[in-house]
Amino acid sequence: MTLRAIKYESGKLEILDQLLLPRESVYVRVTRVKDGWEVIHNMQVRGAPAIAIVGCLSLAVELQGMAYDDKSRLRQEIEGKLNYLCSARPTAVNMKIAAEELTAETNGLFSDDTVSDAEDMKARIIRSIEAMLEKDISDNRAIGDHGAQAMLSHTKSGSTTKLRVLTHCNTGSLATAGYGTALGVIRSLFALGKLEKAYCTETRPYNQGARLTAYELVHEKIPSTMVCDSAVCALMRSKTINGVVVGADRIAANGDTANKIGTYQIAVLAKYHGVPFYVAAPLTSIDLDTPNGDRIVIEERPATEMTHIGGQQIAASGINCWNPAFDVTPADLITAIITEHGAFPPAELSSKIAPLKSKTS
Ligand code: MRU
Repeated sequence: MTLRAIKYESGKLEILDQLLLPRESVYVRVTRVKDGWEVIHNMQVRGAPAIAIVGCLSLAVELQGMAYDDKSRLRQEIEGKLNYLCSARPTAVNMKIAAEELTAETNGLFSDDTVSDAEDMKARIIRSIEAMLEKDISDNRAIGDHGAQAMLSHTKSGSTTKLRVLTHCNTGSLATAGYGTALGVIRSLFALGKLEKAYCTETRPYNQGARLTAYELVHEKIPSTMVCDSAVCALMRSKTINGVVVGADRIAANGDTANKIGTYQIAVLAKYHGVPFYVAAPLTSIDLDTPNGDRIVIEERPATEMTHIGGQQIAASGINCWNPAFDVTPADLITAIITEHGAFPPAELSSKIAPLKSKTS
């Protein structure tokens, strides 16, 4: 059985409530854009690709239930609702890129004479949104294949070795339409018989590693071990780690990468220990309009995520907290960025990705 974070059929959207995992698997119905905004903001669904897909599908189901007789009103509504969805969480760029693409498409359809009326325009927008689901899964599989090859070819003993790979946060089926990005690379290595073991961090304070990645690894019977975030240095010292692979919420044009808080320190430790460090992400996580990581807005989350676990207080009352949800790993700590089109050193990102992006948009 495959894990599905997002269940969609025409006019009906449900998301697996990730706040309740791993104890309970409960699907929540999303019937309109406001629900979409809330499940993203509350992190019932999370992970950069899943945020964009659920946001856009919430628009699809809302549009499906409405009748439009005016193309201009439909265009205005789509643009307004997409802008609103972009405000749910600021760091991941995928929702913003999806919104820009859909807005451009809406404008194109508005002035296209072959679009008979507002209902025709609506149906075409819904079809484009639905195509995102399928594309995300096929992109993830390509990322998995490219990533596995990149990691194997970088290993000194080549393809005869089984790899020990560390990952951080959750980048699997639960963070995407299916398969996953960094966890997809681990899945592909496992499928090739080239994975000795996956290590996952707990990923404090929200515990995406312990609650979600561990759940996916156990579910798929992938040999795996969880470590505390603070054990990564000791892990690299005492065991051979062949590579680290993480996801991304936003990759700037120079390759600086925003990802779950704690990613940066793992990259520093990897550099010190000579362990290759990979970022696995689709083109929709690459923001060529942002020149470098200093320009990425980092979301800050409530202190209660640090002071409480599962509703239980674990920190002393009255302590001040700083809770950034993400950090930025400088490009020079990254060995390669693995996309659905191949693996690129950060320095080549802009020149290689810009033509690919203009081809796919
Ligand atoms: O706060 P989250 O759980 O949404 O953060 C998720 C991450 O940082 C992931 O690594 C990233 O979004 C990539 S998911 C394929």
